[in-house]
Amino acid sequence: MNIKNKLKFVWKVIVKIAQICFGIAFISGCWTVAYFFSYWLYNRIDWHPHHYVGQLINMLAALFIMGLMIQLIGWLFFHKKQKEVSNSLKDALRRISQGDFKVRLSFVRTDPRYQEILDEVNLMADGLEKLEALRQEFISDVSHEIQTPLTSISGFARALQNESLDVDTRNKYLRIIEGESTRLSKLSENLLRLASLDSEKHPFEPKRYRLDRQLGTLVLSCEPQWVGKSIELNADLDDVYVEADEDLLSQVWINLISNSIKFTPEGGQIDITLRHKDGLAEFRIQDTGIGIAEEQQQQIFERFFKADKARSRKIGGSGLGLSLVKKIVEMHHGTVAVESEIGKGSVFIVTLPVALPQL
Ligand SMILES: Nc1ncnc2c1ncn2[C@@H]1O[C@H](COP(=O)(O)OP(=O)(O)OP(=O)(O)O)[C@@H](O)[C@H]1O
Ligand SMILES: [Mg+2]
Repeated sequence: MNIKNKLKFVWKVIVKIAQICFGIAFISGCWTVAYFFSYWLYNRIDWHPHHYVGQLINMLAALFIMGLMIQLIGWLFFHKKQKEVSNSLKDALRRISQGDFKVRLSFVRTDPRYQEILDEVNLMADGLEKLEALRQEFISDVSHEIQTPLTSISGFARALQNESLDVDTRNKYLRIIEGESTRLSKLSENLLRLASLDSEKHPFEPKRYRLDRQLGTLVLSCEPQWVGKSIELNADLDDVYVEADEDLLSQVWINLISNSIKFTPEGGQIDITLRHKDGLAEFRIQDTGIGIAEEQQQQIFERFFKADKARSRKIGGSGLGLSLVKKIVEMHHGTVAVESEIGKGSVFIVTLPVALPQL
């Protein structure tokens, strides 16, 4: 035990002894007051009870005085503190209800019951502050995503008013306006879908179906995109049944396949496999695309995150596709993961529980 701890220990012992002495003095004081008061009262009313009855009355009176004193001391010492705590609590709750989430409460030597409430209020303010920061970040991301195509649309619409433009330039500007409008409409579609999924009111209609058949159809429907970039696409799909919302899952596969096509240069390769493993359906999509840096591999599932903003701007995309993928896969009690190396390519792996065999 070092000297500091020794001093602490000695101080604790002194405080305990002082508390005991104070207790004894307090009880004796109350008993003495009761004794002299009852003695004075018996003389006044000229009643001299039996010794036993006298002692009993004396003891009860001492207890009564003790209770009274405790109440008085409590009121004198703690009432002010309680008032201070409850006023600060009311003030903090009022400020929180008005949207000021920076409030934090702290009191030294507060009754442990109040401390618990104060801790809960601080925790609530903390949570609300984080939520508010996320909300503001979301608004700023949405505004930015809307502002960029709008600026482009209004700029080219103004340029089109120039009657001296030749047909080719005019058509080029119109194609840009069309592209930016499509981008805006896709953004609002994705935002609405995310909001609807977040609200948990989105229709969720799971049914048993063949996942390999759904994937086969979607791969074919994307053919113009991968053939257009001379990408070699191989699909090797086991027969797997899942119990899932077909519409929602098709969004997952489309987003993953179109990402692979989008981020793989001309002449690249994409391999899609579906395996039935240990009660799980494992979907893998591997590409020979640009890859994702290790430090960004977890962020890509966040809303509006784009690893390379300049490139995304050129090839289109608002960074919502993978957050939708994650949300939908988690709704189906599945997982989504990524393995990737810059310049070599990426693999996205989705696992889902397979459907129970039909009886
Ligand atoms: N297969 C992939 N190869 C390389 N990078 C990828 C791949 N898939 C996703 N990414 C990176 O992750 C980011 C987020 O992907 P996400 O699908 O969420 O957005 P997006 O494709 O840019 O836009 P959106 O899907 O909304 O049209 C992409 O911008 C890209 O940087
Ligand atoms: Mg995408």
